[in-house]
Amino acid sequence: MKAFAWFAWGLSLWLGAAWPAHAQAPGVPLDVLHWWTSASERRAADQLSAQLATAGVLWKDAAIPGGGGMAAVKVLKSRVLLGDPPDVAQLIGTTLTEWADMGLVMPLNAVAQRQRWSQVLFPTVLDLVTYKGDVIAAPLGIQRINTLLYNRKLFARLGLTPPRSWGQFELIARKLQVQGVRPLVWSDEPWQMATVFETVLLGEAGPTLYRELIVQRKSSAWMDPRVERALQRLRWLRTLSGDNPQEKAWTDGARELMNDSAGMMIMGDWAKGELMAWGASPTKDFGCVVVPGTEGMHLYSVDTLAMLVSARQREATQEKMAEVVVSPTAQLAYNRIKGAVPVRRDVDVSSLDGCARDSWETFAAPRSARVPSLAHRMAADEAIKDAVAQTLWRFLTDTRMEPQEAQRRLAAVIRASGAER
Ligand code: BGC
Repeated sequence: MKAFAWFAWGLSLWLGAAWPAHAQAPGVPLDVLHWWTSASERRAADQLSAQLATAGVLWKDAAIPGGGGMAAVKVLKSRVLLGDPPDVAQLIGTTLTEWADMGLVMPLNAVAQRQRWSQVLFPTVLDLVTYKGDVIAAPLGIQRINTLLYNRKLFARLGLTPPRSWGQFELIARKLQVQGVRPLVWSDEPWQMATVFETVLLGEAGPTLYRELIVQRKSSAWMDPRVERALQRLRWLRTLSGDNPQEKAWTDGARELMNDSAGMMIMGDWAKGELMAWGASPTKDFGCVVVPGTEGMHLYSVDTLAMLVSARQREATQEKMAEVVVSPTAQLAYNRIKGAVPVRRDVDVSSLDGCARDSWETFAAPRSARVPSLAHRMAADEAIKDAVAQTLWRFLTDTRMEPQEAQRRLAAVIRASGAER
């Protein structure tokens, strides 16, 4: 054997020992910045990273804890400003298009064409990742925000059926309260308030007004009496958490549902993924329905990975990553753990849990109303989202503020953003 062959053989033995079984060969490492740090998020990311390793792409993890990406988005910004962007980032919604505008995001047109994304992705998803004619991110999964999770064991013990209307919800809340059980998980974190608010708003306003408020951002529409009703309901929902509502992580809220100290939770379906990661079963321990008033509607947030431009020249590997994450196998494996659903319309979702099947089917049905989440950056930029969340926080924590005053403030935020469309 020639010297080089010996060297290659020795290297392969060494690598065999150094790399996990799923990694066929060492690949090019890609620095991935994201905010998936809870049990299910971590597992879903690990699953993806294992799948990528078999394709020679190494996931170098740069996770920044913080629900809803509050911290991750800031770290990402500072890394870019310091001239050290990660190779890949969980950039979603409008944040993505802003970054693309600055020339920081690598177009993925070639891979999208090779993998026929225009035929296999849901049109809404393809639209989200297409900007000025370029495909600018690889979509991972669709989360359903208008999800109401309930504790099956408590409901069965008290003879309750999951609520289909706010009237039923109120009755259930009262029965749970009588039993000393917190009816609804609540957190005073602004992004969680905004998450609950937009689902209630969609139910009260319906998709047409919701789009005027959130997508077209008509400031005058914020004075509509249906917005007032949504704010009143939000205030009432907060009272269900007990005397002293607190800021708590969404995982702590999910834990209350898991250990029977709360009956219901309104949260994106990543909370379902988390319960499952902790060993809870969606057929025995908890169930899910849509938030009252949002039947047949899908309030979505789509997670996407953007490939950032840097001096490191890793385009081929970045393209490979995009190809793998959108592949049917990765889509099913990742979303099953994450609690989301595939972004493709050509996959068989029969092996997913009931909540996921309903989410995917609703998203796929031509007649459903698919509306973007404000709280999760699908409809407005970080600044508008934060200003709306902050206004909601003020309204909810200052019980003297009238809903109309909150409406005026929300209308002013929208007007000041100059974003009326
Ligand atoms: C993301 C989810 C994530 C959740 C909680 C959302 O904005 O889209 O992937 O699980 O935040 O951190």
